[in-house]
Amino acid sequence: MKIKNKNYSTLWVEDSKIKIIDQTKLPFKLIIKELNTLGDFCRAITQMEVRGAPLIGVTAAFGLALALRKDASSKNIDKSINALLETRPTAVNLRWALSYIFKRIKNKRIQDRAKLSLELAKKIRQEDIINCFKIGLNGYKIIEKIYKKKRKPINILTHCNAGWLATIDWGTALSPIFLANRNGLPVHIWVDETRPRNQGALLTAWELKNEKIPYTIIVDNAGGYLMQKKEVDLCIVGSDRTTSRGDVCNKIGTYLKALSAFDNNIPFYAAVPQSTIDFKIDDSRKIPIEVRSSKELSHLTFLKKKKISTGEIYFRNSNKFNPAFDVTPARYITKLITEKGLIEPKKSEIMKNLQK
Ligand code: MRU
Repeated sequence: MKIKNKNYSTLWVEDSKIKIIDQTKLPFKLIIKELNTLGDFCRAITQMEVRGAPLIGVTAAFGLALALRKDASSKNIDKSINALLETRPTAVNLRWALSYIFKRIKNKRIQDRAKLSLELAKKIRQEDIINCFKIGLNGYKIIEKIYKKKRKPINILTHCNAGWLATIDWGTALSPIFLANRNGLPVHIWVDETRPRNQGALLTAWELKNEKIPYTIIVDNAGGYLMQKKEVDLCIVGSDRTTSRGDVCNKIGTYLKALSAFDNNIPFYAAVPQSTIDFKIDDSRKIPIEVRSSKELSHLTFLKKKKISTGEIYFRNSNKFNPAFDVTPARYITKLITEKGLIEPKKSEIMKNLQK
């Protein structure tokens, strides 16, 4: 996608170096970083310089490939995979990408493993772009159908950031919105602020602004009110892990939006690439939910005199709890928007249409 008329993706290879956009500085500053060591990759994921389930997976794939340049022994493969798996627990794309590479290199000669793993990482990156675009095309049809009935701007509510910054390009939940706008369908987006890190207000709003898509930032609790007022035509969210039964784990607060949507008869879609489906998990209680630093609650990052600053907003010593994700049961999800089409959030449909 474009930033000031120049095309960017979130991670790319330039002169054999791996580069990323540091998302902790957006939208205030555009900082490009080079990742050179396994430690750099692990840090970039842990510190959320790169974030969003698909992007975490692609970053891990390149991290593994780079670690094997120095030492492609089985011992170092295991060590590197374990270090990368430790970075963030919930997004299953991380495990998916690492096991995709592991399966294909484990029986190869040591001297061939680094080159092959880099080729595979590039393939995963490329497929992420294609799959997100296909999700966009499939989701576009939903928006178009609603527009044909309504003939007025379509109000779409989204939570967190499932745009191009959460993937390599296009995004998942925002991809249909980008395509709708580029194809002349009038859309307006309700952007949940998404406390505590504010990925909605900081990243989603910035992506929409860059694409000249009308949007309004709202506090996370405003969605229910807007739905009761018939100000929301549909909701589209992303996912960090979706069970084989179609329960969708996504940013904390997604569940409450889905409940409101259900109560108000508003369609609620989750945009989910196949790499986000955890075919091994039936029971959503088994999904590891990341609990993040309580400092995310008590401190805010903002721009002060053109400098990025952080300030404390709570009493010191209050008890705090900061789970980063929740699970929306499949019964509240209208359909999964996947690269393979719209799929019922049901085990039989997921198994039939999406393969491991
Ligand atoms: O904690 P984050 O910023 O990595 O959380 C991101 C989300 O919850 C996204 O909605 C999810 O990863 C889907 S990304 C296409």
